Amino acid sequence: MRIVLGVGGGIAAYKVASLLRLFTEAGHDVTVIPTEASTRFVGTATWEALSGNPVSNSVFDDVHLVNHVRLGHEADLVVVAPATADLLAKAATGQAGDLLTNTLLMAHGPVLFAPAMHTEMWQHAATRTNVETLRARGATVLEPASGRLTGADSGPGRLPEPQVIFEAAMALVQGRSDYQLPLAGRTVTISAGGTREPLDPVRFLGNRSSGKQGVALAIAARNAGATVRLLAAHMEVPAPAGVDVQRVETALELREAALAAAADSDVVIMSAAVADFRPAEVSDTKIKKRDDTADPVITLVRNPDILQELVEQRNASRAGAGQLVVGFAAETGDSQGDVLAYAEAKLQRKGCDLLVVNHVGTDKVFGQDSNAVVILSRAGSEPQEASGTKTEVSEAIIRRISFELNHVSPRA
Ligand code: CTP
Repeated sequence: MRIVLGVGGGIAAYKVASLLRLFTEAGHDVTVIPTEASTRFVGTATWEALSGNPVSNSVFDDVHLVNHVRLGHEADLVVVAPATADLLAKAATGQAGDLLTNTLLMAHGPVLFAPAMHTEMWQHAATRTNVETLRARGATVLEPASGRLTGADSGPGRLPEPQVIFEAAMALVQGRSDYQLPLAGRTVTISAGGTREPLDPVRFLGNRSSGKQGVALAIAARNAGATVRLLAAHMEVPAPAGVDVQRVETALELREAALAAAADSDVVIMSAAVADFRPAEVSDTKIKKRDDTADPVITLVRNPDILQELVEQRNASRAGAGQLVVGFAAETGDSQGDVLAYAEAKLQRKGCDLLVVNHVGTDKVFGQDSNAVVILSRAGSEPQEASGTKTEVSEAIIRRISFELNHVSPRA
């Protein structure tokens, strides 16, 4: 497929190098047209090297090839990223001052804009009108992602992640012009990793959770267009880009963060391994071994069940009526019952909408890259199996969550 990739003059231009990579690795022939302003952020040499094609932004280069007409005509798809306020305005008013705007006027195939700008610019009446005009003419304008912007500010205006733009572009050429990412406009809160319960300033009770599953879920939700809040307990993997990260240590800290974040979330996923118990007392000083005294005994007290409280908070709130609460269960079978029977009982006990069930042994699941799960639904649909890498399993879970949100009526 022939793709024209227009690059606008915003700092997010550097992220478009990854988008170009996704296109070329999928076998597409990409011609990059950077605006003059964008070359202040990323030089043309980068685009030539990564695309393997000559790069120009002038209608006066290679005039004999009539590029200002040819590129738009021949393109199966035109993608503009970052689509700045300036570029959206030029496209909406049909200006043709450079090679990119000429190409947009000559485009025969689908056109996708991936905006990036400061929140006030995105929300300005002028930009709103330009976006509406472009959409009314059949162009696809993605919603920008929400989160940290270039300065200290944050809000809607971040360039959607390269993977998100790539998937939207592929959907567009498959004829889905009304395509919106399945979780566009949704907020998803995900807890990940293992909590640590302090005993004294240097010791804690912890668990084997690596955080890989929660991070893979955060990436899958982000790629599905969601605004993602990751509540990160102890993790062995880094938090992904493009999600808001809040660090927590103990079950009590996670509880507070989860209940607050859930208040305005469409989905809450509790994939963290939460300690069921914590030491009744935390010593201010390091507990010493003394030969003259008996071995210390640690008394534990029960931690609150965060998942259950999230369900209670949702059920008590009118605003939370459509919220989906998803739990995880690490189960082993025994002589009393099999894994699914235990999981089914846990689903009913905790009251969450979906329960993702892992079958565990000591060598399974924790820290592993692959996984097999069963998704149980309180509404009673058939158990759904998903297996593969943690990325594949996470994508299946996020697809199921999107389906529940978009096609199943709100819960009572
Ligand atoms: N969970 C929670 N708060 C806790 C313990 C667990 O929110 N204090 C959440 C986990 O994040 C997970 C789900 O509950 O989504 C199931 O956790 P699991 O440890 O399997 O269940 P338990 O309630 O501990 O049940 P049991 O130990 O009896 O199997």
